[in-house]
Amino acid sequence: MNILFATSEAAPFCKTGGLADVCGSLPPALAASGEDRIAVIMPLYTQIKMEWRQKMTFRKYTFVDLAWRHQYCGLFSLEYQGVTWYFVDNEQYFRRDRLYGEGDDGERFAFFSKAVADLLPDLDDMPDVVHCNDWQTAAVPVYLKDYAVRLDAYKKVRSVFTIHNIEYQGWLNPDAVTDLLGLDRGWWDSGALRMGGAVNMLKAALLASDAVTTVSPTYASQLHDSYYAHGMDGIIAAISDKMSGVLNGIDVVSFDPRTDQALAAHYEADDLAGKAVCKAALQEQLGLAREADTPVLAIVSRLVGHKGMDLVCQVADGILASGVQLVVLGMGDAGYEDFFRTLESHNTGRVAACITYSDELARRIYGGADLFLMPSKSEPCGLSQMIAMRYGTVPIVRQTGGLNDSVRSCQVGQDDGTGFVFARYDAGDMLAVIRQAVALYHTADFGAVQRRGMREDFSWKRSAEAYRRIYANLLG
Ligand code: GLC
Repeated sequence: MNILFATSEAAPFCKTGGLADVCGSLPPALAASGEDRIAVIMPLYTQIKMEWRQKMTFRKYTFVDLAWRHQYCGLFSLEYQGVTWYFVDNEQYFRRDRLYGEGDDGERFAFFSKAVADLLPDLDDMPDVVHCNDWQTAAVPVYLKDYAVRLDAYKKVRSVFTIHNIEYQGWLNPDAVTDLLGLDRGWWDSGALRMGGAVNMLKAALLASDAVTTVSPTYASQLHDSYYAHGMDGIIAAISDKMSGVLNGIDVVSFDPRTDQALAAHYEADDLAGKAVCKAALQEQLGLAREADTPVLAIVSRLVGHKGMDLVCQVADGILASGVQLVVLGMGDAGYEDFFRTLESHNTGRVAACITYSDELARRIYGGADLFLMPSKSEPCGLSQMIAMRYGTVPIVRQTGGLNDSVRSCQVGQDDGTGFVFARYDAGDMLAVIRQAVALYHTADFGAVQRRGMREDFSWKRSAEAYRRIYANLLG
């Protein structure tokens, strides 16, 4: 099979969140484990570093029509980890200070999606399946269906659409149908693109693609519930026959405490001595008191509401009173950023607020911390809890989405637990399990929980097979 992933970000080229981790690690895992030809196509943003650009080959240029617009479109490629990575070039759209959040994001990603659809015959292999991800690529399945009516080359191409987070849907004005997407009005009149009085790209993709997946089984079932579905529950019900949940994996080669170059020392499940060295180095680096026996509780997250930051703010004093040092790494809403800065200034040596984004510091935190807090209100999959477990840092999570599918609770029977879980979105409940985790930390049983988490298989192996089955089913 020839599989093409279409994505708006992929590590190591550019990253704002978990989407980049998945699109950077699933394609190489598929390439390594089978006969299929795997490629990825993404925008050539300014943010992609020179070291990568130097490895790229210019393939061709063409023009992409978006209604009345006739836009330059360059195509570059490079080979990396068994995968062909294609980059779509247009400086008007992708030479910006940031990946998203621009006033014309709708137009930028309509361009990208149309470019993907138009370029298929120009790639090394005509894809059998185009695997799209989130709203930025939501127009791709629509164009594929539209082209298949007229163009033979497109008749056999199938599409898969993965929801990484249903909150982001790609809303456009109704005129966008003809004035931007350049589609026939029928797409609007039939309701395929319409949600209320506007265009909703996510809805269009859910209807137009041949299979839909999301990033954990629990989230797949939660999406039927209006609390989690952000208005999409009706559509989810209508497409449930072609939808499934596949738990994400992590890149277990890159995230490995035996080899991670960011760590002060290396360690493994059978010998955790190096983890104590990592902890001391972290406390030193962040200006925390050098106390080997004080548990370090870490948060590595975007500081936004759905990650559960309001719960942390509500009981921050109680968390500190439980006897932990608190480390926070991330950026997000100014209110949360200020809260953690202030908390640090009032608790010197006990709290470190790192209001930044740093892959290296994140790794040092996974390595040096004892406990990892992830109290998300909703969490389609979540990768950090898996990375934390791989580094022997015991997660404390809310029972939702992929957190529910990847962490086994220690509270119900100690024998196979890998972390601490609370069910209700409630600061008091969260604080109660933090206290339980701290109590366990001070006993000899803590090491067993750490080791179990480290031995879990979070590799892409299983999930890659699930995706391969989905592709094969579509191709008959
Ligand atoms: C989004 C989700 C996160 C998931 C990631 C990768 O960022 O919010 O839960 O792990 O996508 O699928």
